[in-house]
Amino acid sequence: MSETKTALVTGANKGIGYQIAAGLGGLGYRVGVGARDAVRRETAVGRLRGVGVDAFGVPLDVTDDRSVTGAAELVERLAGRLDVLVNNAGISGEMGPGWEQDPTALDLEVLRRVVDTNVMGVVRVTNAMLPLLRRSASPRIVNVSSSVGSLARQTDPRTGIGPVMAAYAPSKSFLNALTVQYARQFAGTNILVNAACPGLVATDFNGFHGPRTPEQGAATPIRLATLPDGGPTGSFFEDAGVVPW
Ligand SMILES: NC(=O)c1ccc[n+]([C@@H]2O[C@H](COP(=O)([O-])OP(=O)(O)OC[C@H]3O[C@@H](n4cnc5c(N)ncnc54)[C@H](OP(=O)(O)O)[C@@H]3O)[C@@H](O)[C@H]2O)c1
Repeated sequence: MSETKTALVTGANKGIGYQIAAGLGGLGYRVGVGARDAVRRETAVGRLRGVGVDAFGVPLDVTDDRSVTGAAELVERLAGRLDVLVNNAGISGEMGPGWEQDPTALDLEVLRRVVDTNVMGVVRVTNAMLPLLRRSASPRIVNVSSSVGSLARQTDPRTGIGPVMAAYAPSKSFLNALTVQYARQFAGTNILVNAACPGLVATDFNGFHGPRTPEQGAATPIRLATLPDGGPTGSFFEDAGVVPW
């Protein structure tokens, strides 16, 4: 089996995903840059190669079955197996001026798009990559979630601050719940699957508002992608430790 480990990061052309790719590349991983737009993808691959990362582009729209199947075929052809999958691609869905998504006026098309990307996209990509992950000695799956998906935090008056978000926040609660079910399914195997909150990071996602840099946001996902055998699984982490469900 080749010594070089291969990682695939979805939505790796910018923001936190790009920095996860850069960080894993810096640790010696060969990195598949999953991105749906050809120009954005190749630009990111070029930037990563420019800083010494062994990067390759993977055309990947997480909402499209054929695109995801094609991505798995490409990774198989180029690497033969997958050691790390980071499900990072995500969208917020349209929000009001204060970033709110009022449940009483929710556009179901917005909800459908958010769930298709943030939830079904993760299942679609994970299941397509699973045969390749099973060929790794130590497969790791990281689902990039958010602490707004923590029901404990949302219902605690001290932490449930910020706008009501009826599409995005529940999509991350769903993703967290899925992470638990995958971990249960993988019990007794060497596959570790965890959810990560990057914190509030200044990216396109939020109009570049947020105290944290993409590098800082990438730290916990990278830590979970590189867990040693016997590490935690079915958990939800941020930099400071475990996030309550
Ligand atoms: N920023 C924060 O404060 C924050 C906080 C908590 C959690 N998160 C989570 O962190 C992850 C990354 O967010 P970010 O802040 O880095 O946002 P971002 O800069 O907007 O990046 C999102 C990435 O996802 C990609 N993407 C969206 N839909 C896709 C699809 N259907 N198929 C493939 N790729 C798709 C985007 O590609 P395009 O360039 O083609 O659109 C982009 O590469 C998301 O899951 C988000 O929910 C972010």
